Amino acid sequence: MVAAEDPESFFATAPPLGDTGAVVARIQEFVARNSSHPSSEGGGRRRIVCVTSGGTTVPLEQRCVRYIDNFSSGHRGAASTEYFLKAGYAVIFVHRRGSCQPFCRFLPDDSFLNFFDVTTESKVQVVESHTTVVKKAIGEYSKAIEGGSLLKLPFTTIFEYLQLLKMVATCMSSVGPHGMFYLAAAVSDFYVPWDSMAKHKIQSAGGPLDMKLSQVPKMLSVLRNQWAPTAFCISFKLETDSDILIQKAEMALSKYKMNVVVANLLATYKEEVVIVSNGERNTIRRCSEDEDLEEHIIKLLEKSHSKYIYSSTDGCAKN
Ligand code: PMT
Repeated sequence: MVAAEDPESFFATAPPLGDTGAVVARIQEFVARNSSHPSSEGGGRRRIVCVTSGGTTVPLEQRCVRYIDNFSSGHRGAASTEYFLKAGYAVIFVHRRGSCQPFCRFLPDDSFLNFFDVTTESKVQVVESHTTVVKKAIGEYSKAIEGGSLLKLPFTTIFEYLQLLKMVATCMSSVGPHGMFYLAAAVSDFYVPWDSMAKHKIQSAGGPLDMKLSQVPKMLSVLRNQWAPTAFCISFKLETDSDILIQKAEMALSKYKMNVVVANLLATYKEEVVIVSNGERNTIRRCSEDEDLEEHIIKLLEKSHSKYIYSSTDGCAKN
């Protein structure tokens, strides 16, 4: 492993996104429209949250055949997006291509075709047992899309993810404390810088592969200090060792000046999280498999965000 690069050199050497201008224009339009929109919950303006979701990849070759991946199905980000929309937020959903999508979580991984029946030669319909759930999902998804409160931006690599996060954060800086970052994506800590990466497929005839990985700069500090200094920021902490989880979450809280850190263990992340904020620790557990842990997480965060907006605006602005 070689030393952490500074954020400027990371961005200077990263392969640029193909359609930067168009992406920035979509984010700017979304932010401008939603931030001038009154909140559907009554009183104040609509809040905007950037939800990041899924794992970033680290390519090993520029014409990529092999890559290192990060564990994440995208379920947490997709479920959280649904509950943020229900709570009246506009959501920028920055997600890994092919990962779990909002309102599609109920779709089976294995046999999507089990959802359909061929009724006549030219007609296919959803099987009776699934119509309620599909109708509900279509209704909620259409409401978010037609109401203009959901913007979906896909990434695959760490290069794409961090460029998108920077774009969203800088476009959202005008939203101030009404903006929120909910960083549930599993982000690579180590990578191969583009300019030192093999161009073509690495050949196995050369024997064992000896490779040095550089450290990805921790973007939480840059997000807090430069891109979105007044936003409400929530980062996640994933560990496998329960003895260090809370200590690492508290460290992230103070080192990166996060408002909240959601701490979870790989073995139990679907059942339990600990919400760590200044001086407080709240453990949230789900009672049954039918329940979404994210519903409880978002309820708690929405309240903390309201208090933050109130304190940031000296109680003058409605939240
Ligand atoms: O998607 P699911 O399958 O439902 O799983 C959800 C989850 C377990 C992935 C999710 O709950 C979770 O914990 N996500 C964060 C995983 C992670 O990257 O943890 P970390 O401890 O490695 O990083 C902590 C924070 O630092 C993250 O918020 C990350 O955005 C940030 N980071 C990480 C690396 C880096 N170079 N820069 C960063 O800013």
